[in-house]
Amino acid sequence: MKKNNKLKVSIIMGSQSDYKVMKLAEKTLKKIGVSFETKIISAHRTPQRMYEYAAKVELNNIGVIIAGAGGSAHLPGMISALTHVPVLGVPVESKKLKGLDSLLSIAQMPKGIPVGTLAIGEDGAINAALLAAAIIANNNSNVRKKLKNFRTSQTKSVKKSPK
Ligand code: RP5
Repeated sequence: MKKNNKLKVSIIMGSQSDYKVMKLAEKTLKKIGVSFETKIISAHRTPQRMYEYAAKVELNNIGVIIAGAGGSAHLPGMISALTHVPVLGVPVESKKLKGLDSLLSIAQMPKGIPVGTLAIGEDGAINAALLAAAIIANNNSNVRKKLKNFRTSQTKSVKKSPK
């Protein structure tokens, strides 16, 4: 692995259909100036691709993984099982159960293999990116500065009165 300040975030998702939610993670990381890559990897449909990706996480200077998946959402847990890098799971809303299935699949990991689980859908994708940026910021002063600026402008944007 290269120097810590070269670490990037890897956004992965189980399907092309997850991208409408996961692109918000991309947008948020761009805003904070965090380097990232984006890939489709399915634990069920492309298991070999998942193993190959996981084997190269360290070599590819990935510091945090954001994994979005819906329904029987095994991707975040499987990636966490295959790497030591922090994994943040985004439950994508499913058609039948509105993402409750995704949330429980991602959150209910057995002890020993952690996945940091975010909210269902767009809020989760945005917060996963902010959390990933905060992890990267521990060893990256540029990202730290931008993250603080983001928080300050967010605070300033909240009006004191609704009128
Ligand atoms: C999961 O199945 C994916 O993460 C996606 O949320 C869900 C549905 O996938 P598609 O049938 O839309 O490809 O693996």
